[in-house]
Amino acid sequence: MGFLSPLVSVSDIALIGVSGVLIYALLLSIYRVFLHPLAKYPGPLRYKLSGWPLLWQAYKGNRHIWHLQDHERYGPVVRIAPNTLSFNTESALSTIYGPRGANVKKGEWYKTFDIAAGAYSSFTETDRAKHAIKRRWMSPAFSAESIKANESLLTMIIERFCETIKPMGDTWGPKWNMTEMTTYLGFDIMGALVFGADFQSVQEEESRHLANSVIAATAFLYWVSYLPLAIIVRPLLRTKLFEVIGGKGIVDNNRLIDYAQDQVHSRKYKTESKEDLTDQPRIDFLSRIANANDRKSGWSPTSADLDTEALNMINAGADPYSGVLAGAIFYLVHNEYALQKATREVRSTFSTTAEISNGPKLSSCEYLYACIEEALRRTAGVPSHLPRVVLPGGINVDGNQLPEGTVVGVPAYALHHTPEYFPDPWAFRPERWIESDDVSAESIAFSRKAFTPFSIGTRQCSGRNLAYLQLKLTLAHVLFRYDMRLAPDQKGLGGGGPDMEEGRQRKDEFQMWDALGFVRDGPMVEFKTRTQ
Ligand code: HEM
Repeated sequence: MGFLSPLVSVSDIALIGVSGVLIYALLLSIYRVFLHPLAKYPGPLRYKLSGWPLLWQAYKGNRHIWHLQDHERYGPVVRIAPNTLSFNTESALSTIYGPRGANVKKGEWYKTFDIAAGAYSSFTETDRAKHAIKRRWMSPAFSAESIKANESLLTMIIERFCETIKPMGDTWGPKWNMTEMTTYLGFDIMGALVFGADFQSVQEEESRHLANSVIAATAFLYWVSYLPLAIIVRPLLRTKLFEVIGGKGIVDNNRLIDYAQDQVHSRKYKTESKEDLTDQPRIDFLSRIANANDRKSGWSPTSADLDTEALNMINAGADPYSGVLAGAIFYLVHNEYALQKATREVRSTFSTTAEISNGPKLSSCEYLYACIEEALRRTAGVPSHLPRVVLPGGINVDGNQLPEGTVVGVPAYALHHTPEYFPDPWAFRPERWIESDDVSAESIAFSRKAFTPFSIGTRQCSGRNLAYLQLKLTLAHVLFRYDMRLAPDQKGLGGGGPDMEEGRQRKDEFQMWDALGFVRDGPMVEFKTRTQ
């Protein structure tokens, strides 16, 4: 006698399962589109239904372009994912990021970026009280005294960079890919300031894979952080499996993490100064924080805190400077008038390179500073959202009362290209930052409210002053010594073009592939020793 046939067959169970999933998806979709607290906000239907479009945009590196276009189409507030709103106003910027008591915090999204086990850096710490402690603890590294003590080292590395790109004779020298060269320069600078290391990746091949891994790894982690199950993925990030999935960038970045950890573990931290590559007394950043406690709470860092912070300073410090510097050079070689004017200003201010230092003369280079501001506007170091999660009690942004758990953000690229704040936004125009008959102090102040390359408020960039000094010194040294131009046989690299995706058609716009930082390439530039 055969077995009794079961009451429910396998195919019936599969059918019930599939139907259940479909009904769940349908109900969820109805809820998200019609009943969700953010249902009334405009945006494409696909954004309201799921977070996958956002993940796809992050994967492609085009998020900033989408944000700009979405705001142009739907207005100053757009629902860009079921639970996320994007705002494009200076008032939203100041409400969300500005005040110490703003009822938001960095969300879980940030945690994927810190791989060192058991600790979050000052960059990724989501708890506001813990972040305040870390920020205070780190402050000696970024103090005016620390920057002053490190300036001679910074200058030495910049001068060495200038020597490397120095053309032979008095004709135009070979072409250089400025994305590559500035990436190495940024890495050399931060390696020296943070660890006292001398990577020399501008000059030598040996450490270049580490320098190149910084943005490659960030770009990978950027979209991985948007995966619905990122929380499960995080512990796997340092495993061989992820090295296989993430490729060379992740492998190299893991070596950089190992390097940072070795530095933390193997060195004896002495807070007294030591002689560095320039034979000047100085103390590197790691030494400044390794033996320090937080003055107020008495908190002192664990070894894991130091590991992750050392790496954070390299990652957060090297790549945005390099990207913005490449952008500044791109815009200068594409805007002859600005290039000539900045060059004339630098050459008439200083008589020798030895004079180029942080002080009244450098501060008097108003046009150079305006070029840097304009490069930071066009090439915001973090072009898309710095997401913030609304805390219990909600927040009111531009008259919109938003409930706990809503994710909010203001995309710098979109805000920086909004004509209301920056008339003729696609023009590289340093003059917009200088008071004149055509530009009033009020209009500059209004633009500044919407200017956010370093973010604002309690999570503003800790390295802002250092970054400005680095940019000023580098450009001043290069312009003082060399004329520069786009390589005649490779003019297009770095800019947009008709064959590129929508939003990337402008040949005179430096192209960024957004990645909490940005991937880039070019421009190809030639240098010639100045004749006048
Ligand atoms: C042009 C160069 C730079 C740009 C455009 C830039 C931009 C930014 C931005 C937008 C943030 C906020 C990120 C967020 O809220 O998620 C940030 C944070 C940070 N940056 Fe920079 N940065 C630059 C250079 C530097 C340098 C040279 C350092 C030195 C190590 C540095 C260290 C940091 C740190 C530690 C944070 C975390 C601050 C916190 O949350 O307390 N940055 N940066």
